[in-house]
Amino acid sequence: MEVIIVKGADAVAEMGAQLVCELLNKKPKAVMGLATGSTPIALYQKLIQCYQQGEASFRAVTTFNLDEYIGMTADNPQSYRSFMDRELFDQIDILKANTHVPSCGLDDNPRAIGTAYENAISAAGGIDLQILGIGSNGHIGFNEPCSSLSSRTRVKTLTESTVRDNSRLFSAGEFQPHLAITMGIASILESRRVTLLATGAHKATAVRDAIEGPLSARCQASALQTHERATFIIDEAAASCLEYRDYFRWANSENTPIIEKFGNFYELDQT
Ligand code: PGA
Repeated sequence: MEVIIVKGADAVAEMGAQLVCELLNKKPKAVMGLATGSTPIALYQKLIQCYQQGEASFRAVTTFNLDEYIGMTADNPQSYRSFMDRELFDQIDILKANTHVPSCGLDDNPRAIGTAYENAISAAGGIDLQILGIGSNGHIGFNEPCSSLSSRTRVKTLTESTVRDNSRLFSAGEFQPHLAITMGIASILESRRVTLLATGAHKATAVRDAIEGPLSARCQASALQTHERATFIIDEAAASCLEYRDYFRWANSENTPIIEKFGNFYELDQT
């Protein structure tokens, strides 16, 4: 597990964007796993700038989003499909047909939809880089505390704390779904590389539990401890509860010459 601690939210987004650009330059047909929420918005803005400045092209990229509310149609502005179109896809050169957000209507069989989504990821060759945020309760995607660590794309009922955290995005009286379809922990762990972005003191205990806590379904993000190439890019506030934060800073400065020599994606040289 690699833990990179940077000054603030802008530096988190900048480092995340550098990683994505490096991947796209190395593998223009990359398959990316994408996340919604407040945290990745700054990353997406940086990626749009990279595209505008000719530093990255998404023309051959395929994307798979982590999750979507059940019964939320794509044209609903609260849907994660709308979010992705608005915050990223409409502003870069990606082909919409290559962008995937799980979609499950109220009358759809969620198991069939989940299996089809997993099959589509496999058919695309698997995810090269999965971007993640983290919930204040440690969830990744909508894998809420005590979800199976072997889970696949399926329906999850959101916890009260997640509903409360997300209520800021819904106006008074507006319908706020309590059910979501989400990639599972096993699906996420199959990605070749995973990068979790976290900013702010309200994420500090979840980040601590994910990185230093026991591997436990209680903190779903702790499952990343078992991933060979998981990178946390976090700001000082999100790192504030880490016992090993000085070690992580030191390890980073020691690792920098290797990354400068071989790049961040040297494992792709072998595929
Ligand atoms: P946030 O959500 O980026 O809006 O804080 C993260 C998450 O719940 O995964």
